[in-house]
Amino acid sequence: MDRIRIRGGRPLSGEIRISGAKNAALPLMVASLLTAEPLVLSNLPRLADIATLARLLQALGVAVTETQGSDGSLALELCAADVTDTTAPYDLVRKMRATVLVLGPLLARFRRARVSLPGGCAIGTRPVDIHLKGLEHLGASITLQDGYIVAEAPHGLRGAHFQMPIVSVGATENLLMAAALAEGETVLGNAAREPEVSDLARCLVAMGAAISGIGSETLRIQGVARLGGCRYRVLPDRIETGSYAIAAAITGGDVRLLDTDPELIGALVEALAEAGVDIVPIAGGLRVLARRGEVRGVDLTTAPFPGFPTDMQAQAMALMATARGAAMITETIFENRFMHVPELARMGADIHVRGGSALVRGVPRLKGAPVMATDLRASMSLVLAGLAAEGETIVNRVYHLDRGYERLEAKLAQCGADIERLPE
Ligand code: EPZ
Repeated sequence: MDRIRIRGGRPLSGEIRISGAKNAALPLMVASLLTAEPLVLSNLPRLADIATLARLLQALGVAVTETQGSDGSLALELCAADVTDTTAPYDLVRKMRATVLVLGPLLARFRRARVSLPGGCAIGTRPVDIHLKGLEHLGASITLQDGYIVAEAPHGLRGAHFQMPIVSVGATENLLMAAALAEGETVLGNAAREPEVSDLARCLVAMGAAISGIGSETLRIQGVARLGGCRYRVLPDRIETGSYAIAAAITGGDVRLLDTDPELIGALVEALAEAGVDIVPIAGGLRVLARRGEVRGVDLTTAPFPGFPTDMQAQAMALMATARGAAMITETIFENRFMHVPELARMGADIHVRGGSALVRGVPRLKGAPVMATDLRASMSLVLAGLAAEGETIVNRVYHLDRGYERLEAKLAQCGADIERLPE
């Protein structure tokens, strides 16, 4: 398995172009199942998760054609005119939980779907009960058979009011897609407001859906009989933006992040400003500047958007591990998202976890070490720690990073990082 070697201690300086958002691209690709006409998506990141989902859609009979966006980014034309199967098999679902998003669209358009029940994953148990309850509200009958969710709506889905018990990005997306083709009005209360949810809603509107309240916690959807194709550009990846902002901060660097928008990471910008990092909006992005040794510890608590993103918690912890003073980091979204802590500790970090909170006491310098992580964002926190550390860090299990960061080593190296991939 490939590894990444980092020799730390160099301040980053230069420009990084931010890719399209993985977590927007996945539901947008799934939305192709809602229409027989082609959906053309551009600004897609070239990532393992995109390829995995494309394989699943192909297995269902979606014709997937690779093209190129006008800016050279990956574009895909997805045409679900001839869907031949409505089963998402275990082998593909277990690789990536987002595949459960095919449930709503398949059910809405073909009136049945069979999707392998995703199991637990490294960051927690992550049930799908809200997805299923919501679909039942829309009139689906759902049973669990042999590890599969079997959903049927022989007379089609009907609009309904559904108040989500907790904020769920995936459940909001699944129900939004299902409601777009249901008969009558659906109201989704306590909906997720993440920018990726809004991106999906805007694409559905471009396909002919009637949705109001986009970006708010109440989404109203007037079902339509059919949706059409469209061309849609995926929004910038806010977690990639935030991760590279921290790369600049942790190395005391000066980096311009382009093709992105500081508005997408408001809570992080606020936290970094409080920590003493300068964030300056520039045309088409932002500039991040910090002085080494002058970043201060700040307390952080993860929360649904517009709160501090759980997907930035591990990276922020790496920064706090090298900051002046202490920081209390509290994780409220996932129950098991501190697996990076023991690995950061191996690099000299001083972190104590109690329940859902981690007390991080900054140390002047981390030390390079061989490390590995069990999920994507935890792996990125180790890369960031490695960039700041004295000596050599080897990050193992690089496949996690390949799921979420396009051309990671190239983007960091072009800003002066000493980083390289060591093939197996
Ligand atoms: C999305 O996952 C993201 N994935 C995750 O990004 C992100 O961490 C998460 O939202 C929270 O922001 C994609 O968009 C593909 P949720 P999702 O449903 O939709 C509980 C990354 O690193 N819950 O909002 O699966 C759940 O267990 C990843 O890129 C239920 O209890 O997250 C969690 O505690 C990892 N029942 C909370 O809700 C349900 O039916 C929020 O999960 C659904 C969720």
